[in-house]
Amino acid sequence: MEEVIKIKGNKLLKGAVDISGSKNLCVALLPAALLAQDIVTIHNIPPISDVYNLIDILEVLNARVIYKDDVLIIDSSNIKYSDLTIETMHKLRASYYFYSVMLGLFKKLKTYGIGGCRLGSRPIDLHLKAFEILGVIINSNDDTYEFDGAKMHKARIVFEKSSVGATINTLLLATQIKGKTIIENAAQEPEITELIKYLKQMGADIYQSESTIVIDGGKKMHGTEFTNIPDRIEAGTYALIGAAVGDKLKIRNIVIEHIQSLLDIFDVLEVNYRIEKNNLIVSKSKIKKGIVILTSPYPGFPTDLQQPLTTFLSVNKGTSVIIESIYDNRFAHIKELNRMGANIQTTNMNIIIHGVEELNGTVVSGKDLRGAASLVLAGLMAKGETIVSGLEYINRGYENMIKKLKKLHAKIELSLLNIEENEDEK
Ligand code: UD1
Repeated sequence: MEEVIKIKGNKLLKGAVDISGSKNLCVALLPAALLAQDIVTIHNIPPISDVYNLIDILEVLNARVIYKDDVLIIDSSNIKYSDLTIETMHKLRASYYFYSVMLGLFKKLKTYGIGGCRLGSRPIDLHLKAFEILGVIINSNDDTYEFDGAKMHKARIVFEKSSVGATINTLLLATQIKGKTIIENAAQEPEITELIKYLKQMGADIYQSESTIVIDGGKKMHGTEFTNIPDRIEAGTYALIGAAVGDKLKIRNIVIEHIQSLLDIFDVLEVNYRIEKNNLIVSKSKIKKGIVILTSPYPGFPTDLQQPLTTFLSVNKGTSVIIESIYDNRFAHIKELNRMGANIQTTNMNIIIHGVEELNGTVVSGKDLRGAASLVLAGLMAKGETIVSGLEYINRGYENMIKKLKKLHAKIELSLLNIEENEDEK
C-alpha cells in the first residue's frame, strides 16, 4: 500500500495561504552555519524532509541542533571531522554543500555522492572543476569522493555555465581560503544574494556585482541570526493554482520581485491578479491564447515552475511552447497529464501544449518534486477524482501542501492505494 493524494477537482479555492521559507536557500544556510563554529539562529525554516536530512548530517558532525516552530539553532562550537560516507548524503542533492564547508574547515573530506530529483543528467563537474582550480586534489571511485585540500589557494574561476550549486559551493569554500578568489559568470538567483548577506553577517568579506563575486577569504567567522526568505517556487506554484482555480486566492508573505517572470507571463495571458504589498491575489482566469516561454537562470522564468506552468497551460484555447533550456529530461509529468486528457508533446527540449477544454481525473504518478506538485494542480483543475502518488517528493519541498490546500477549501486528502492495482491501471 502506498500513501497517495486524493483530490476531487474542479472546485474554486478561496482564502489565504502563507508561503514558507525558501527550500533552496535553507539547504545552503544549514551546512554554511558550520563555518561560524559558533551559534547560528535561523528563522523561517520550513519543516520539509530536506531540512531533516541536513540536520542529521549536522549532528553526525557533532553540531547541536534545536529546531522548534520555524526557528533553527545550530551550535557548531564543538564540530568534529567525520567522513560523510553515510546514506543521508544520497537523500538530497544539496548535501554537496557539505563538500565545500568540510574542505574549508578541515582541508579534507571523504564522502559519498549526492541524491536529488532525476531531471535528466545533473552532473557536478562544474563544482569539481572549481575545487580543482582552488587547489583541491580529488580522488573518486564509484560513489565515493576523497578531497584533499592541503594545498588550496585563491584563484579566478570563470564558469562556462550559470550554476546555482557550483556558485554556492565555490563561494563557501573561498571564504576559508586566504586571499581574493574571483568567481565570474556566477549564478545570480536571489538565494545566492541572500547567502552572501548571511555569510557577511558571519564575518566573511564578499562583494557581489551582477555575475561577479569577489571573496576575500580566510576571515574569522562567528555566529549570527538570520531570517530565510519566502520560497519563490512555492509562491509561484500557489499563484498558478490561483490562476487555475482561485477565487481571489491570497498568496501571503512573498517577495513580488522574485516571481516577476511569472507575473510577466500572467500579464501576457491576461490572468486576473493584483498585488497588495507582499501579497498576491489571483483568480481563475480563462486563457484564450498560447505563449512561448524559455526557462532560464534568474531573472528569467525558472525551470522549477515549468511543470506547474505546463499543467496550467494545458487547459487553454491556444497552443503554447515551453523551451526547457536547463534540464534535458524534466518531462515525467507530461505523460501523466496526457493520461488526464491533456494534449502535450515534447520534441528535444520543447514542450508543445495544445490547449484542451478540460482535464479528467485518473490515477497519476509523480516522479519528482515539482512534477508531483504539477499533478496536484492538475487534480485541482480536473473533473472528477484524481489520485496522485509521489507524496515523498512533495514533502521534500512543499511544507504541508495538503493542509494548506485544505485550508483553501480544496477537496484533498491522504489516502492509501494498492500499488499493484495502480500499476495495473496504467
Ligand atoms: C538549483 C536548484 C533547483 C533548480 C536549479 C536551476 C537548489 C538546491 N536547487 O539546482 O531547484 O532547478 O538550480 O535553477 O538550489 N550543471 C552542469 N554541471 C554542474 C552543475 C550544473 O552541467 O556541475 C548544469 C545542470 O545540469 C543544469 C544547469 O547547469 O543544466 C543549471 O544547474 P544548477 O544551477 O547547478 O542547478 P542546481 O544548483 O542543481
